[in-house]
Amino acid sequence: MAEQLPSIMFVCLGNICRSPLADGALRHEVARRGLGWRVDSAGIGGWHSGDAPDPRAIEVAARHGVDIAGLRARQVQPADFTRFDLILGMDHDNLAGLHGLAPARHAADVRLALDLVDGRQGQTVADPYYGDAVGFEATWRDAQAIALGVLRHFGVRDFGVCD
Ligand code: 4NP
Repeated sequence: MAEQLPSIMFVCLGNICRSPLADGALRHEVARRGLGWRVDSAGIGGWHSGDAPDPRAIEVAARHGVDIAGLRARQVQPADFTRFDLILGMDHDNLAGLHGLAPARHAADVRLALDLVDGRQGQTVADPYYGDAVGFEATWRDAQAIALGVLRHFGVRDFGVCD
């Protein structure tokens, strides 16, 4: 029987800044390796449901060759905990929110996104929403490091990046 492909969901508060960048960075790395993994993102809150990513997030991703303009925000659903193997929160509040939204029994591995990055365990991805373009560039770098950490987590050994 064929093994099921990994499925990964990134979670932040609004699903318009941090998690769409991590989603875009990993989708890009997955697509260019032809891996076919399921990658998605969602927010703890639903205030931005249906919205495109923040224009500053779209811009920083585009600067690095990744198009996230087509993503749309949505809120985390209980069904996500069975649809995804790995659910990665951007900060400790997101992690607490995830535990609050999770069904009593589920098999998903829920943890901090930066726990998959060497030397960054326990750290949070800073929220760039109230900052400037410099903050979004830092978020992109974290998103890229997380994407590579996810590849390594699932045993991918080819770490070449486009940019
Ligand atoms: P995100 O950033 O959680 O990285 O998407 C935020 C987006 C929106 C808000 C806060 C954080 N907000 O308060 O609307």
